[in-house]
Amino acid sequence: MCGIVGSVGTESAGPIVYSGLENLDYRGYDSAGIALVGRELTVAKQAGEVSELRVPDVSDATCGIGHTRWSTHGPPTDANAHPHISQNGTVAVVHNGIIENYESLKARLLKAGYEFSSDTDTEVIPHLLERELDDGHDLLAALERVVDFLEGSYAIAAVRAGSDRIVATRHESPLVVGHGDEAAFIASDVTAFLDRTRDVTYLEDGDIVSLEDNGVSVYHDGERVNRAIETVDWDADAAEKGGYEHYMRKEIHEQPSALRQTLSSRLDVDRGEVDLDLDFPQGYLESLEEIQFVACGTSYYASQYTAQLLEEFADVRATVTIASEYEFEGGRDPWRTLVVAVTQSGETADTLGAIRRAAGAGARTLAVTNTLGSTVTRETNDTLFIRAGPEIGVAATKTFASQVATLALLTVAIGRGRGALSTADARDVLEDLRALPGAVQQVLDEEEQVLAAAREYQDSDAFFFVGRRFGYPVALEGALKLKEISYDHAEGFAAGELKHGPLALVSDQTPVLAVLTTGADGDETRNNLTEAQTRRAPAIGVVTAGIRTKSLDWALEVPAVGVFEPLVANVYFQMFAYHIANLKERSIDKPRNLAKSVTVE
Ligand code: F6R
Repeated sequence: MCGIVGSVGTESAGPIVYSGLENLDYRGYDSAGIALVGRELTVAKQAGEVSELRVPDVSDATCGIGHTRWSTHGPPTDANAHPHISQNGTVAVVHNGIIENYESLKARLLKAGYEFSSDTDTEVIPHLLERELDDGHDLLAALERVVDFLEGSYAIAAVRAGSDRIVATRHESPLVVGHGDEAAFIASDVTAFLDRTRDVTYLEDGDIVSLEDNGVSVYHDGERVNRAIETVDWDADAAEKGGYEHYMRKEIHEQPSALRQTLSSRLDVDRGEVDLDLDFPQGYLESLEEIQFVACGTSYYASQYTAQLLEEFADVRATVTIASEYEFEGGRDPWRTLVVAVTQSGETADTLGAIRRAAGAGARTLAVTNTLGSTVTRETNDTLFIRAGPEIGVAATKTFASQVATLALLTVAIGRGRGALSTADARDVLEDLRALPGAVQQVLDEEEQVLAAAREYQDSDAFFFVGRRFGYPVALEGALKLKEISYDHAEGFAAGELKHGPLALVSDQTPVLAVLTTGADGDETRNNLTEAQTRRAPAIGVVTAGIRTKSLDWALEVPAVGVFEPLVANVYFQMFAYHIANLKERSIDKPRNLAKSVTVE
């Protein structure tokens, strides 16, 4: 997730674009840049936060675009920062999203003599625009032609030297126009320009917009169209949260798009293959004896989910150790042991300590993280990015979903690499993965039900979460989420363990939330839930849609997506935790005593 902003009007564009970037930096903060339009383009861009960017002193430039980056392709370096410039230096482009087919486009452009100066997918766009401009099209027509070549999800804004005009378009990535008195604006969201105008037009997928100082025109399929102007009544704080009261709720609702970004350009369902850009040595996967995960908190539960995926689909032994407890045991062949550090932040001291111990013993290491340039990426042999976009709420939500989805792709890669997963079985897994974003959206659409359940049970003495197989780590994660933001007592148990002790705690004041879906041994777990119901515990069950469920107090449905149903069930648990905490007016984004990045052991 990155932030785009642009301004064209009568005022100097540099300061407007810069303040827009400051307002957007929660969307990404590893690099920033600006392009201002005069007879020539003046560009300033660099790795680092927006505050480190010096705005070029071109006060007569009244048109400009800017970008704040959260890296997905290419590390955060000056060269990879946006805007990206065409070969002859006359076109500048900022982009949010992923161009899935950039490698083939880049190959064609290289063949045609275009030179590239970054590792990004974005850089193909200015070159393609330049080619269309050279063929005699104006900037708007050039963009209309270029989008025909692009696959993926994107929001794009472009400018050309010598012309006070911004053209922009979107596909599955947000883009909004602001209508000011003295200027028109384009941005990833209204936060960028809310201090200048509240009159906005939300663009639709496929819209192409032209902004000039005399007005805004929107086109769709080559025809000029009218799009409504709406007035935003949020304050700046709410706008930064996309209109949600808390980042956590925004991030819960971002999961479909975060998952799309995680999966984008990485799976080939027809062939049953995945492309993760990992360079394991020849023969390495076949010779692997064990995969050891090291992680903390939510990342630990994502690893537990994955260990089961690996054993089921890749025929490899997988163990999961809490990072602070990890030692590389003697007697193992380090070469045949892959140690995987799963860490959203890439900075968790316990996880870094574990990976250092593994590397010290000679094991090959892999980081799975959300944060390009983080410490873990510099200390491991390979890195896999989960591409969830920045997560600001302290409680991890969308990154859990993206971690499991990324690790599921890794499972397929390893299963295929070891010859343990047939094409047909890989296809099934990838089809379920492809359906995940839509399934999560269906669950998010049921939020009212979850709010009603939260209202009913908010004053309970304690909350218990139970599950089996893939439902077990989800039960643990559900309890962690609830305890950290509501401060209520919540515990997760393997459903079969209830009768071995925890049942003593159960009463009519302790709701039990159970994962009863595919992949979670729903029938057996249902029996365990009945044991709790017999002790008068209220029962909330997450079930596969269409499966008949009797005598639950609340039955919450998830669409059928095989072994990923417990992951989708987790979205109900996230919303439940959120609403319980919100009803109690807790400090949801910054729970007491907790930090987003735990850099002490
Ligand atoms: C819980 C939570 C923490 C983190 C843990 C590891 O909501 O966010 O439990 O999961 O501190 O953090 P990372 O993944 O950054 O290593």
